[in-house]
Amino acid sequence: MKKTLCELGMVGLGVMGRNLVLNMADHGHSIAGYDQDALKVELLKQEAEHRDICAAASLPEFIGMLRVPRIVMMLVPAGPPVDAVLRDLLPHLQRGDLVIDGGNSHFTDFDVRARALAERGIPFLGVGISGGERGARHGPSLMPGGPPEAYERVRPIFEAIAAQVDDEPCVTWLGPGAAGHYVKMVHNGIEYGLMRLIAETYDLMKRGLGLTDDELHDVYARWNQEELGSYLLEITAHIFKQTDDRTGRRLIDVILDEAKQNGTGMWASQDAMDLQVPVPTLDVAVAMRNLSAIETVRAAAGRLFPPAASAPAGDRAALIERLRNALYAGMIMTYAQGMALLAVASAKRGYRLDLGAVARIWRGGCIIRARLLDDIQAAFRARPDLPNLLLDPGLAQKVSARLASLRQIVVMASESGIPAPGLMVSLAYVDSFRSASLPANLIQAQRDYFGAHAYERMDAKGSFHTRWDGE
Ligand code: 6PG
Repeated sequence: MKKTLCELGMVGLGVMGRNLVLNMADHGHSIAGYDQDALKVELLKQEAEHRDICAAASLPEFIGMLRVPRIVMMLVPAGPPVDAVLRDLLPHLQRGDLVIDGGNSHFTDFDVRARALAERGIPFLGVGISGGERGARHGPSLMPGGPPEAYERVRPIFEAIAAQVDDEPCVTWLGPGAAGHYVKMVHNGIEYGLMRLIAETYDLMKRGLGLTDDELHDVYARWNQEELGSYLLEITAHIFKQTDDRTGRRLIDVILDEAKQNGTGMWASQDAMDLQVPVPTLDVAVAMRNLSAIETVRAAAGRLFPPAASAPAGDRAALIERLRNALYAGMIMTYAQGMALLAVASAKRGYRLDLGAVARIWRGGCIIRARLLDDIQAAFRARPDLPNLLLDPGLAQKVSARLASLRQIVVMASESGIPAPGLMVSLAYVDSFRSASLPANLIQAQRDYFGAHAYERMDAKGSFHTRWDGE
């Protein structure tokens, strides 16, 4: 334990806060930790060993440990706890001190808090942090947003602790205001989409093709070596090997099929609706978590409806190969939807995002890191204003080459009665984009029929209304 003043103070010594403190200290930075819970403070003191770390369970004592102007980072649960910490902190802070929120705060909350702090001359950074406990300890992806000059004050620490890919840290200043929290929210929306698609391939292979857990491990481990290589596939392969201590069975087979959520993926869907950006794979991922949780309704429906239809026919190895292609195409569509949401939000909310840089800092440390992000980064480097990744010739070609597989898998899923809505809407997403015409003409006509909402024509400019025959 040390006596000199610290460069940065961390409020909240839960799993994320404590591991970030240790990570920062490992890179030669002097850090103070604070938590109301004396046990957490004690735990940090024990783990600190030789590191340049001090810790306190008293706020005045903690504040006294910090160099002035101070840098205080909060790692507390999103929502009211963040406001409670700010209320407690503010009387101890002064003009020029810097406050950082490293939690999964909603971007609109960030805006309110940033205004309140700015009135007191205190800059505020919102930093999305991804990678869970292990990432926090050994290298997360960091998504900072807020005043750029404020970011400069913590840049050396953040660049030191972030995951490194190709000798570049997985962190960069993303944009003003809530840009950091917004990018993290969309990261989580993509995370939900990818998890959903992987879960569907699991369901199709387990219930549809009858693969054992060992076989599932082998398939995901093999896929992870190839173009699908990603953190989520890597952990999925490991999951199928894990044995349950209580029963001796594979753990996956004793885990309840009801998915929980903290809500960040849902926020991404909600804001996409507000901005009128189609993100159907993200939406369906949220909807299916909600559906999984209404277990009693599912059980009642199971008694009313006949069991699912036929088992999938065809060569097992060929079907697994198609699933691999379908998953890859679905993954591209999921990133495409998330990036399209970022592009629109950036334009409408003034975040000035460089989507190539976003893809770059997602290549390491975060939950959605994947080989595919190299192609995504290259796509935005080639054309920074790309409105949708499906318009990148290379990625479009990759999707095109896998569309037949995706279509066959969607048929297999519907024929066997195994729900695969993530893959289905991903297919519909690309089919809708590529379609020469959509049935929205009928929707225009219906709106005009029942509500005189007017419609546009193909052959003339302007807005038209018809007194429909039969009205
Ligand atoms: C990350 C994760 C993390 C998230 C959890 C749980 O990037 O490290 O996104 O921030 O909170 O994974 O999210 P849900 O509870 O909503 O599934």
